Amino acid sequence: MLDEMNEAQSDLAQVIRLALAEQSEDVRLFVARLVRKYRNTDPELAEQLDLYLRTKTHRASAPMRKAMQPALPTQTLPVDDESRLSLLKVFKDTPDREQPLLSISLEETLSQLIQERRQTERLASMGLSPTRSAIFVGPPGVGKTLTARWLAAQLEVPLYVLDLTAVMSSLLGRSGSNLRTALDFAKRSPCVLLLDEIDAVAKRRSDETDIGELKRLVTVILQEVDEWPATGLLLAATNHPELIDPALWRRFDLVVDFKIPETPAVKAAIKRFLGPDFALFGRWIDILTFAFNGESFSDIERDIQRFRRAVALGTASDADLIEEFVKSRALVMDRQARIDLAVLLAKQTRLSQHTISDLTGVSRDTIRKYTADQPSITKKISKRELEA
Ligand SMILES: Nc1ncnc2c1ncn2[C@@H]1O[C@H](COP(=O)(O)OP(=O)(O)OP(=O)(O)O)[C@@H](O)[C@H]1O
Ligand SMILES: [Mg+2]
Repeated sequence: MLDEMNEAQSDLAQVIRLALAEQSEDVRLFVARLVRKYRNTDPELAEQLDLYLRTKTHRASAPMRKAMQPALPTQTLPVDDESRLSLLKVFKDTPDREQPLLSISLEETLSQLIQERRQTERLASMGLSPTRSAIFVGPPGVGKTLTARWLAAQLEVPLYVLDLTAVMSSLLGRSGSNLRTALDFAKRSPCVLLLDEIDAVAKRRSDETDIGELKRLVTVILQEVDEWPATGLLLAATNHPELIDPALWRRFDLVVDFKIPETPAVKAAIKRFLGPDFALFGRWIDILTFAFNGESFSDIERDIQRFRRAVALGTASDADLIEEFVKSRALVMDRQARIDLAVLLAKQTRLSQHTISDLTGVSRDTIRKYTADQPSITKKISKRELEA
């Protein structure tokens, strides 16, 4: 019989089924889907439905809950009933928090974002509202989460990080409403909300665990991004942009690209992570910068911390650490990079050609050739200069 129904009829049947089962959250989600579905073909109907959605009487299906709820919304953090996992992690940092290392273009983008928030009234007077949502894209360990934290601190609001894995680990059929609970909480007061690793929702789709459930989550997120109040800033982060639903992608006001650091940023990162130990390792700075090329900030930080611990405990000397590190990095470099590294070592250290060859895998002949060239050129020039 269902086969014979036209689409409108089957939509109607679905709404009735959900309503009778008192699944009010599901009704809302379904209606939200209908709004989108009919937006083009029947805008009037879509608008009407949208209006119903916005005049919120939802939760009426749970009179008990209503009666039990205190008059004022409590600010306790929402927790999934079954797993007792806290769905939101809270960070309350002071504005003096150190700024992450950012490329110039990234810094400009973020400072615009901050300015918009600090001058909402000025924007409003011109009929404009600040950027409400942004998605951070980039490889692991380049500062997406860190920057969200710093942004919130700059704006002097708390950062809530929504753990999508926790949301999804909640019992089947509940994650949609768990997500909504968390988001409703975040909407109540000014904050930055970060949907971290938003691709987790998309990634799981291929597991076919529960397609319906995941679609429901995506629907909730889509709707929330659409309706996010300008009092809050909604951020999402991912290192798998290709997994993000295009419909979701399009809804973010701003896409912010985080990249693997370039040479000057690598150097700055090494200095920052060395802290007071820069005095000890400073003489290796060019070699370290070269060797860390292509690594993320968090990888750089991890290795530097390791060096510092070893030196602090006296288990290795700085020279030993650098040698061992350079050797391991050379293994993943192409030939030209290894030659450049060998030349750098020859110029900046007292290591023998034999050792350099051992560390970089570049033959002593090659090292000699490359290092011998330079002085002879200089000699020739100076000779010519003398003649001139
Ligand atoms: N831009 C940066 N400036 C300074 N430190 C950084 C920066 N990026 C990363 N780090 C260091 O690396 C750690 C991890 O960074 P973060 O958690 O922000 O990475 P992410 O981009 O969110 O990675 P993932 O995609 O794996 O979540 C930070 O806590 C910090 O110590
Ligand atoms: Mg992160």
